[in-house]
Amino acid sequence: MRILIIGSSGLLGSDLVEQWADDEVIPATSSDVDIRDVRLARQFITQVRPDWVVLAAAYTDVDGSERNREQAFAVNSEGTRNVARVAQELDRKLFYVSTDYVFDGKSHRPYEPDDPIHPLNVYGASKAAGENAVREESKHWLIARTSWLFGVSRASFPEKILRAAACQSQIRVVADQIGSPTFTRDLAIAIRDLVRSDARGTLHITNSGSCSWFEFAKEVLLKAGRKTSVLPITTAEADRLAKRPAYSVLSPASITVRGVTLRSWQEAVDAYLAELRQKGKMGW
Ligand SMILES: NC(=O)c1ccc[n+]([C@@H]2O[C@H](COP(=O)([O-])OP(=O)(O)OC[C@H]3O[C@@H](n4cnc5c(N)ncnc54)[C@H](OP(=O)(O)O)[C@@H]3O)[C@@H](O)[C@H]2O)c1
Repeated sequence: MRILIIGSSGLLGSDLVEQWADDEVIPATSSDVDIRDVRLARQFITQVRPDWVVLAAAYTDVDGSERNREQAFAVNSEGTRNVARVAQELDRKLFYVSTDYVFDGKSHRPYEPDDPIHPLNVYGASKAAGENAVREESKHWLIARTSWLFGVSRASFPEKILRAAACQSQIRVVADQIGSPTFTRDLAIAIRDLVRSDARGTLHITNSGSCSWFEFAKEVLLKAGRKTSVLPITTAEADRLAKRPAYSVLSPASITVRGVTLRSWQEAVDAYLAELRQKGKMGW
């Protein structure tokens, strides 16, 4: 198959490109195609003629989206609609990556794909609009919601914690938001397998288990052998611009029935740290 990966320079996109063996992969960054422009999207996708378009490009700055609503919607909603429309014109299949932030966090059990969505922030609303655009424009689509991504290709939460620990004696981390950290290597493999099996519909893909950001930070520091103390704080104390769901754990049921399971987030942290060491990125 020919697989076009839009957003190939991103945290997830980079791992998608690296993990996707045995198919012909065409990576595309924003300088190859700006998805906000439907003419550019049409020109590019027509030229590539992929079997699947994997859309991993997004405006992902959650607090920045509160200040730049227009930009968040231009990329995540209209950009997604452009890609979905063109993919459908050419009769191509579409994979869209979405987020746990489409939920409001009021649930007391892991979210299933068909639970009602109710985003709390602009980023979540723009991604929810992107999901709707995919469902409206495309006939053959797969939407995967995921959460709390970490990986080695771009600085993500664990790396920021390790960097902070290198220069501060104590770090403060939010303890009242619960979710599932997800290693982009594991997510990339799951996406590849689901696309290969021609899956459709809305699915939830994360590493197994859940924790708070505080527990995530403690696990990373413990396994990296850092003694820096971590102080739990509340979401209110963190005083971020965008509201975030207090609980956004995604149920794995929709992928386990398709024979896909991801290891625990703690095992994924081990693999992530091993990769950081191997790449000589633990020097702080
Ligand atoms: N990060 C998370 O914790 C998280 C959690 C849940 C879901 N997700 C979803 O997972 C997906 C991947 O996220 P990520 O964290 O890997 O993203 P990322 O690292 O921020 O990368 C975003 C990618 O989108 C590209 N892009 C941005 N604007 C574009 C445009 N107008 N046209 C074409 N490409 C554009 C960027 O290209 P350039 O580098 O060339 O600008 C980059 O490759 C997104 O759909 C995101 O919503 C992320």
